[in-house]
Amino acid sequence: MKGVILAGGLGTRLNPLTKVTNKHLLPVYNQPMIYYPIQTLINAGIDDIMIVTGGNSAGDFLKLLGNGKDFGLKHLNYTYQEGEGGIADALSLVEHFADKESICVILGDNIIEGNIKLAAKTYLNQGTGAKILLKEVSDPQRFGVPELDGKKVLRIEEKPEKPKSQFAVIGIYFYDNNVFDVIRTLKPSERGELEITDVNNHYIKKKEMTWDELTGWWTDAGTFGSLHTATNLVAKTGANNIELNQNA
Ligand code: DAU
Repeated sequence: MKGVILAGGLGTRLNPLTKVTNKHLLPVYNQPMIYYPIQTLINAGIDDIMIVTGGNSAGDFLKLLGNGKDFGLKHLNYTYQEGEGGIADALSLVEHFADKESICVILGDNIIEGNIKLAAKTYLNQGTGAKILLKEVSDPQRFGVPELDGKKVLRIEEKPEKPKSQFAVIGIYFYDNNVFDVIRTLKPSERGELEITDVNNHYIKKKEMTWDELTGWWTDAGTFGSLHTATNLVAKTGANNIELNQNA
């Protein structure tokens, strides 16, 4: 399985911090934000990684990460997203890299306490379709929110005013190679973006979606509040703990 980190977009919710630099280069406690998703993939045994960047300071990713030596990697792949067409638009750029293999996609501003080793393994056993990870949160309106019927996910709503559950769909997704055909069918949402939630709803409709609940804390870091929370959580417990017991 290959790994994809989506670090494009303009990070406007963090203005003026993102006026001259890229959101994913900002510090989260003692490391640049992009370090966390890279380590998450590596801890899951995924070392063939593509970083999709965009917006400001794209060249600084190369300066910071090079070929990934600090992470024990021999090589890192990079590509550039023009504009801010959405998460699914950024994902569409990695079709040649995926080269028919399944992929684990992680949003560049998502940080976890534990690891996704078991989720990656169960997805590989699943073989086709998609898998999402869920986490109970106090503010589901900020996220993609699933409507659940036991272990079945019926639908996901993006930032609903009246969430149908207390779960957020976190920004770590597993897809088979059909994901690129699905993205080609998408139309931009009201916010003018190709939405990853529309991709996920497509897999749900085809009954090809599974989900697991993530163990340990999870946060994004794309707003002042969540960036602050992320820094505090990392300072307190550290992130990407490979030993944390997991049911996901
Ligand atoms: O964090 C999890 C949430 O991420 C999910 O629950 C939502 O369903 C999903 O839509 C997403 O919501 P956000 O509105 O918080 O996503 P945001 O626009 O902040 O983008 C998150 C990351 O995705 C960002 O750090 C980089 C990448 N991205 C985003 C856009 C809009 C790109 O690479 N390109 C883009 O054009």
